[in-house]
This record gives sequence, C-alpha cells and structure tokens, in this order.
Amino acid sequence: MDKIIVEERQGNPTIKKSKKRNLKKLYLESYGCQMNFSDSEIVASILDKHGYQTTRNFLESDLILLNTCSIREKAETTVRTRLKSFNKIKKNNPKLIVGMLGCMAERMKESLLEQEKLVDLVVGPDAYRDLPNLIQEVEGGQKSVNVLLSREETYADISPVRLDNNGVSGFISIMRGCDNMCSFCVVPFTRGRERSRSPLTIVAEAKQLYDQGYKEVTLLGQNVDSYRWNINKKGEKIEESNPTTNFSELLEMVALVASDLRIRFSTSHPKDMTDDVIHTMNKHKNICNYIHLPVQSGSSKILKKMNRGYTREWYLDRIQSIRKIIPDCAISTDIITGFCDESQEDFKDTLSLMKKVKFDFSYMFFYSERPKTLAERKYEDNVPEKIKRTRLQRVIDLQREHSILSNNSCVGKVMEVLIDGVSKKSDLDFRGRNSENHKVVFPRENATIGTYVNVLIEKCTSATLIGKIV
Ligand code: SAH
Ligand code: SF4
Ligand code: F3S
Repeated sequence: MDKIIVEERQGNPTIKKSKKRNLKKLYLESYGCQMNFSDSEIVASILDKHGYQTTRNFLESDLILLNTCSIREKAETTVRTRLKSFNKIKKNNPKLIVGMLGCMAERMKESLLEQEKLVDLVVGPDAYRDLPNLIQEVEGGQKSVNVLLSREETYADISPVRLDNNGVSGFISIMRGCDNMCSFCVVPFTRGRERSRSPLTIVAEAKQLYDQGYKEVTLLGQNVDSYRWNINKKGEKIEESNPTTNFSELLEMVALVASDLRIRFSTSHPKDMTDDVIHTMNKHKNICNYIHLPVQSGSSKILKKMNRGYTREWYLDRIQSIRKIIPDCAISTDIITGFCDESQEDFKDTLSLMKKVKFDFSYMFFYSERPKTLAERKYEDNVPEKIKRTRLQRVIDLQREHSILSNNSCVGKVMEVLIDGVSKKSDLDFRGRNSENHKVVFPRENATIGTYVNVLIEKCTSATLIGKIV
C-alpha cells in the first residue's frame, strides 16, 4: 500500500498569512488510493485556515492525522501498527492529538477510539469540514467522532493545499463515492453514494493549477465514466435551464484549459466507458494516451459473481475499440486472484485474457474478504490463501513479461517526456513520464523540472525506459 509523508510547504502565501497566528503543526500521513491523497489536500486546506501548518516531522507536531484505507485487510493492519507507534509518543506528550480519517473511520471507530483508545478523533471522508470543531472538542477533553456520509458533499469550493511539492502534476477529484456495489469492494460502504462535482469548479481548479506552473492534472473518481452533471441515471436533464455535462464533455473542457497541460484520468469502468471518451482522447493531443481499465478477472462466471456488470467478451470489445481509435494507447488494469469459487479454469481465463490484451502495466492483488460487502454476506471465501498467492505470483510473472514487451516497443523511439523530478537512483538523472505513462530516466543536461523534453529511448528494464535528451 502506498504511503506518503506530507512535505512541508514552502513559499505558499497562505502559510505566510497564517504565520501571524498562533501556529500549530499538523503531521498528515495518507494511505490507499489517489482519492485519499487528494482528500488529504482538502484536509490540509481546511486546517490551514484554522492555524495549522503541515510538518514532515511528527515529533514536533500538535496533531497527527492518518488518512486511512480499508480496501484490503493488510491496509488496515498497517494503519493499526502505525497508530500503536504514535500512541507511544503520546505517552510523553499528552497534549498531542491523534486522529483517524478516511475509509477506516466508520468501521473502526468503536474499536480504535473506545476499546483500544488508540485515537482521540475519528472523521469520515464526508465530514472534513467539521474537523476544526471536532479538534476543539478533543482539546476540551472529549473524544470526537463524525463519520456521517453525505449525498451532496464534494468540497467543490475548497481550494486544496497541494502537498506533493513537485509542483508539476496535481490531482483533481471530479466526483466522490461509488454506486456500483462490486461484491468484493468496501468503497461504497466507506465513501457512500456517488456524486459529481460541478464542471465549472473542476475547470477553475485546473486553470488555477496551470497558472501556478503545473503541467499535468489527473481527474479522479472511482468510476469517472459515470460522471454526470445535471443528468440523472436515465440520461434526463435534472434542471432544464442548466447545461448537462458527461465525462467525455468534461474531459474536453479540461483539455481546452491549455494545450500544454497534460490531462490524465482514473478510474475508467469497462461497463460504462463509451467510445465518446476514446474519441475525445484522440481529438486532444494533451489528453494522455493512457487508460486504466480494471478487468479484475478474465472469467465471465467470476465477473458475474463480482457484480462488475460486464462479461469477458464485453471487456475485450472495449479494448478493441481503444486499439482501433488510438492504436498506440497504453492500457493498464487491476486483477484480483482467488475470488470466491474461482476454479483453475476461471484462473486460466484470467491468464488468457492477459495474453490477449498484453497490458502495459497491472496492479495485482489476491482477494481479501471485506466486512459488509455482498461477497462477505453471501459467498464463501473458499479459495485457500496458498492458492490465491500462487495464482497471484503467476499473474505477476506474466505481467512482467508483458511490461518488458511494452517497454521494448519504445526502444529506438523519440518520446515527449514531462520531467517531474530527479531520479531516485542518481542525482545526475531526471525522471519523467511519456504520454503513455511509462517511467523514463535520462541524464539531466540543461533541462528543468516541469518542462517537456524529447527523449530518445535507448534501453529499458521491465519498469523503466532509459534514454537521452535529443
Ligand atoms: N474504482 C476502481 C477500483 C478501486 S479499488 C474500479 O472499479 O476499478 C482498487 C482495486 O483494488 C480494485 O480495482 C481491485 O482490483 C482491488 N480490490 C478492491 N477490493 C478488493 C478486495 N476485497 N480484495 C482484493 N483486492 C481488492
Ligand atoms: Fe469498488 Fe466497484 Fe466502486 Fe470500483 S466500481 S470502487 S471496485 S464498488
Ligand atoms: Fe482505500 Fe478508500 Fe481508496 S478504501 S482504495 S482509500 S476509496
């Protein structure tokens, strides 16, 4: 599971303003998906207005917040271990407040707040505006909780404090929650009903990022293809006087902000991704040639049990459409091994689908049963862990072969790369991404972070393209 530690902000005018106030220090750690990282930026913004400055050193903080993830059991175990270690620090510093945000909030509030007493504060994903009040309650000696989910909250008016500190690529949440109820997935329970954010606020946020020097934005939602503004699920207008916007139209609106602002988006859903979206991608050069299209399984029987709303054939048809409209589009996926009742035959269907599509990248997991989900209530988690893991390893090995194929196909080509930082392995090299989302590493020359350069790809590993600026 990803984890980042928030960097201290520099040169941010709001900090300078708030320095006049009695400053407190906030240490914020995020787990899970990009939506959670994006939410942490909203939290930092809300608390900035209440005198909290972020720090990367938890030992000097007054408030520690963990923005948590519930997607698999392991994610929850990691957070619990981390909370225990913060609890030790609290023994020497009784004024320190430790809080839990995000997707574990609803599920774990009783055990972590009341029974184990690991946290003072529990706040769910739709209740962040209430954080300042809740912190005050804790300062007054109480434990505080707000895990109410909302049908309306999109934090559309809050300008996030960017915590990534590369200043090149930023996230914009375009919707919240999920209505899909895939039978394995906890997200609809932790984040509530799906709701879309006004397109004008999304475009304004993209413009603001561009004006601040950002060169790439990623539009985020659990299922971006079901983004709809002023349209109901039947496709009818909700308010006659206002225009409607679907995802393909939103994508175009954001692409028109600036021709040198790259646009990415995640996550697309195979059941809802229309050719419109692919055509819009093809029409605008600054929309990256990359689609993350989670398949989960290659077996129609398992997909039905997962309640994904498509079959193997439907998925392959979506891939065919992408390849027809944008032949060089990179495609990645998510795969789960060992879901309930997955037989050896079903698993072979996953391998054969992978061989047909040859994904450029994949995120691969073994099934982890989650409380409250349909699968937990109705199906038996009957594939032994050992088999889940063996199947996962086979999927990982096969993906590695495909990633090498994908990277090899770039060797010898000149590709436009957006530089997003210094290579982790050598200070003498920069790193960046091409439109297809491959990681590229090359000697710095006289280039600068946040600019586009043309790189001749000379060689590759399964994870990285290596080249030189031309
Ligand atoms: N909204 C996205 C996925 C969000 S969760 C979509 O619909 O594709 C990210 C990934 O975690 C999922 O695609 C799935 O592959 C994995 N995942 C979700 N629940 C899981 C579970 N219970 N066990 C294992 N992996 C899971
Ligand atoms: Fe979970 Fe399915 Fe929603 Fe993705 S689409 S968040 S997998 S319920
Ligand atoms: Fe995890 Fe919540 Fe995202 S469960 S994957 S942080 S939506």
